[in-house]
Amino acid sequence: MRARQLEVGATLRKCSSDTLTCENRSVLRAPERHAPERQGVRLKSRQIRSLVSSEGHLELSLADIEIPAPGPDEVVVRVEASPINPSDLGLLLGPADMSQATASGTAEFPLVTAPIPEQLVASQADRFGESMAAGNEGAGVVVEAGSSDAAQALRGKTVAAIAREMYSQYRLMDVSQCLVLHEGTTPTEGASCFVNPLTVLGMVETMRLEGHTALVHTAAASNLGQMLQKVCNDEGIELVNVVRRPEHVELLRGIGATYVCDTSSASFEEDLTQALMDSGATLAFDATGGGPLANQLLNCMETAAKAKDPGFNRYGSNIHKQVYIYGGLDTSPTVLHRTYGLAWGLGGWLLTPFLERIGPEATERLRQRVADEVTTTFASEYAREISLAEALDLDNIAVYNRRATGEKYLINPNKDLD
Ligand SMILES: NC(=O)c1ccc[n+]([C@@H]2O[C@H](COP(=O)([O-])OP(=O)(O)OC[C@H]3O[C@@H](n4cnc5c(N)ncnc54)[C@H](OP(=O)(O)O)[C@@H]3O)[C@@H](O)[C@H]2O)c1
Repeated sequence: MRARQLEVGATLRKCSSDTLTCENRSVLRAPERHAPERQGVRLKSRQIRSLVSSEGHLELSLADIEIPAPGPDEVVVRVEASPINPSDLGLLLGPADMSQATASGTAEFPLVTAPIPEQLVASQADRFGESMAAGNEGAGVVVEAGSSDAAQALRGKTVAAIAREMYSQYRLMDVSQCLVLHEGTTPTEGASCFVNPLTVLGMVETMRLEGHTALVHTAAASNLGQMLQKVCNDEGIELVNVVRRPEHVELLRGIGATYVCDTSSASFEEDLTQALMDSGATLAFDATGGGPLANQLLNCMETAAKAKDPGFNRYGSNIHKQVYIYGGLDTSPTVLHRTYGLAWGLGGWLLTPFLERIGPEATERLRQRVADEVTTTFASEYAREISLAEALDLDNIAVYNRRATGEKYLINPNKDLD
């Protein structure tokens, strides 16, 4: 959908600081890509903005925009809950060194500035000078609806959406982007309906599509990991969980996990190999992406495969072993020591192309399952609900940027603004 939200110059001037370069100011004041094509602009909406300058600085700010009247097939959602997922942090904070961040601005319009390490600045070239809104997904209440029957049917309904720019008080979106939540489901319960639940279901679908029978998952105590365990319990799928702390072994066992291997244990590779032999898992989804873990997964899969088919084969076992990196929690280089023959693959996995691969009908089936089970299988846990301004508080950033188990924050863009 085209973004058609109009920035309010006066407010932007207020939230722009003296530290902004002329180049940045002109980008902020030239919002052609948001220009509405019709009359009726009247609803003001505050949102979080992230800007990277070519000089190597990240800048977080709040801006007010105006939401135009919805077109026939559009609605305006008052966003009440939007999670800060690891994937949101990629845009929000980029590769900035937040330990060096400084705060300025006012209580109403805080401004956070942080340096980006020199060697990482070039990786941000595509977004230099562009003030970008953040927040992939969230939930809220439809407060305005276009003239079509489909839009009118959503009036007053609680809906979830993956519509980017969700760290905004109000969001204009197409009817087709809305997932209507069941009566009684709150925006907080529905805030994380898309990114993690659909990824979990996508992992299981990928396993079936690519002929595997069991799964391995890393950083497995995450919100997503706990959902995956519950789905695997329901569907009788063997799941080998990999965590990095002993307490997370207990956490996952508490929700029915059979296999949990701890990378901090001296017997990690032995435990993993045994779990792979017992489960038959030949497909892993790795959220860490960096360091030696993908290599350890492939190596242990090969050892498990050879145990089933002993004897010398100079090319390794014939059993295909696949690791998909689907997250970047460990930003260090991925290290491979190829001692596992040639029947293996290492690739990236992303939700959106996967949904395109399975098509709209299958996607709708997965979406509906999420709506049906959002307070059970796909329930998410949040450590705190914060406002837009609190999301720019340095102490809060230090917590949610840790991406630690049980420390996910939820933004309520209307908190303190009613
Ligand atoms: N590719 C896609 O389409 C897609 C879609 C959705 C989600 N994801 C990815 O899914 C992952 C989980 O998301 P979530 O929202 O469920 O996360 P979450 O609830 O915030 O949990 C993050 C988990 O990662 C662990 N972790 C953090 N840094 C780590 C590191 N360097 N090494 C190992 N473990 C680390 C944490 O464990 P500790 O407590 O031990 O730190 C925690 O259990 C993220 O990587 C996200 O980017 C990808």
